[in-house]
Amino acid sequence: MKIAIPKERRAHESRVAASPETVKKLTALGCEVAVEKGAGAGASYSDAAYKEAGAAIAKDAASTLAGAQIVLKVQRPIVGGKDDEVKDLAKDMLVIANMDPYRERADMAALAKAGVTTFAMELVPRITRAQSMDVLSSQANLAGYKSVLDAAAEYGRAMPMMMTAAGRINPANVLVMGAGVAGLQAIATARRLGAVVFATDVRPAAKEQVESLGAKFVAVEDEEFKQAETAGGYAKEMSDAYKAKQAALIADTIKKQDIVITTAAIPGRPAPRLISEEMVKTMKPGAVIVDLAVETGGNCEISQPGKVVAKHGVRIVGHINVPGRLAEDASALYARNVLNLLQLIIDKETKTLKIDWDDEVIQGLCVAHGGAIVHPALKPAEKAPADAGTPAQDGEKEDKSDG
Ligand code: NAI
Repeated sequence: MKIAIPKERRAHESRVAASPETVKKLTALGCEVAVEKGAGAGASYSDAAYKEAGAAIAKDAASTLAGAQIVLKVQRPIVGGKDDEVKDLAKDMLVIANMDPYRERADMAALAKAGVTTFAMELVPRITRAQSMDVLSSQANLAGYKSVLDAAAEYGRAMPMMMTAAGRINPANVLVMGAGVAGLQAIATARRLGAVVFATDVRPAAKEQVESLGAKFVAVEDEEFKQAETAGGYAKEMSDAYKAKQAALIADTIKKQDIVITTAAIPGRPAPRLISEEMVKTMKPGAVIVDLAVETGGNCEISQPGKVVAKHGVRIVGHINVPGRLAEDASALYARNVLNLLQLIIDKETKTLKIDWDDEVIQGLCVAHGGAIVHPALKPAEKAPADAGTPAQDGEKEDKSDG
């Protein structure tokens, strides 16, 4: 059975879906692996390293994919245009990638029409058994870490307190908004750099996690807050009344911050708007905001995807694909997530594909199969993701852990 790893062709994508380490494990499983020339360059993996791990290096995408049963990608194939990747896919191929399925429904439909089976890695259910395949966690963790380094790079002052012969430098105040996987890593990183850290979230469970990392929890802790977590452990969209109270508290807190990192997200919906331009105006000159949600609409009103905006004396960082800014580690972890999935669907005895379509992991991540969209929350006849079974409604409380 042939597994293909083509080069990623989207802008801002430096990751790759397999590492020499996972290629070695796949060849040991009895798979034939083809890696497109230069596919690992952005992640510092050379063709020679893949070759040594047992892969064949193919000269272009077409020859990489020819005869493959499984295609491993970081991002969904490009549909149409000069970089079209669908033309190289054959009917019944299994394509495994981050598909962005809720936002990219037309692409999902086009891939289904091409007859390929699509598995969306970000839809892996957050159950204990599937934790090793959880790309949202593996990538968000790195993004949270990198966001603090990106903030430090834009910040014109030091982060820790320093006692020097020339006098004292005060530590930076850092506010982390959204204390999920990315936010908790941002808190830990900012603490390691010596900052005084505050954090906010709408899920009550976040309070203890924030405090255990040595940060101060800032939130409107009313009755609605106490009910704000779904069975899957995600945030719910809050009422307008709660949002107004939260905005007032944030407005007051933000004035005192040197650095604000925003990571707030609600699965399947646009990012909640937490920082208005008015709030930015009240911040200290030289303050920095890093908006990790910039690609899904932004937590800050004036952040812009792919830009560092300098406005009202504040620098607002909106880097695209933050995990890709740590391409080697992000690729290594993503590749292991994908390998763990492959181990579930490749029969070790026969060395062939053996998918258990009744497995909840497979049902959770399969978008298209047999020429049609099969995922219940994505079928054309269903409602929009906001009302359908997004992960926000799907998860199971007893299986949730701290990731
Ligand atoms: P996410 O990326 O969907 O959202 C990030 C954070 O933003 C969340 O903590 C959310 O509560 C927060 N948020 C949403 N709206 C907000 C608002 N208006 N103001 C402030 N914060 C807001 O979440 P992520 O990082 O994917 O994790 C969500 C939960 O899933 C966490 O409880 C985490 O511990 C859990 N988890 C469970 C796993 C498992 O069981 N395998 C694996 C990873 C995470």
